[in-house]
Amino acid sequence: MKLLQSLYQQRALGYRYFDDIKSVPFKKSDLSDMPSTLLELQTYLSDCSLCNLSKSRKNIVFGEGNPQADIMFVGEGPGELEDDTGRVFVGRSGELLTRIIENVLKLRREDVYITNIVKCRPPLNRAPSEEEAQRCKPFLIKQIEIVKPKIIIALGATSYSYLTGDMDGKISKVRGEMINFGSAKLMPTFHPSYLLRNPSAKKEVMSDMLKVKAIL
Ligand code: URA
Repeated sequence: MKLLQSLYQQRALGYRYFDDIKSVPFKKSDLSDMPSTLLELQTYLSDCSLCNLSKSRKNIVFGEGNPQADIMFVGEGPGELEDDTGRVFVGRSGELLTRIIENVLKLRREDVYITNIVKCRPPLNRAPSEEEAQRCKPFLIKQIEIVKPKIIIALGATSYSYLTGDMDGKISKVRGEMINFGSAKLMPTFHPSYLLRNPSAKKEVMSDMLKVKAIL
């Protein structure tokens, strides 16, 4: 309401148009101002309107799982079912992700932590823009700081690129090679929705997950 009031005031003063506000890279100190538990962070985020995705979302999809997980999966962004339910990876790609966790990693879904690059659904399931990803990134980095996973699994090119800043890396080239990510390791692999379209790539994901399992 305050923002709306201020926009009405600006219009009364003759302003008609604002350039998009470009995100400024966040500083480490921004993170220390944020709550230090997942529950508080979720509440802190609950009325977020830092990017345009907030206008069309039904629910913020924060993430779920073991708050002390050794493994954290990072997808791209919520789809329709996730937006409807507020829960991460509950659609068809979520079912496949759960099968990978259970059958390859031999863990239960609730043993790992699962979240996304952006917490609100991009319309028509498009990839999040750089602006949207950057606005949401401090919350993801804080989630990583709280959970302290040993391994982060970046699901798909969008997740890999926004996590690492390597915007040119092709997922088919970078997958399967563990890289350092702060005090954690990061394993890029194919996104489950890619596997639904290209089932033959499951063997690569299986091999990536076996490498993850081997270092736990
Ligand atoms: N795809 C994602 O990347 N994340 C979800 O939560 C669901 C589908």
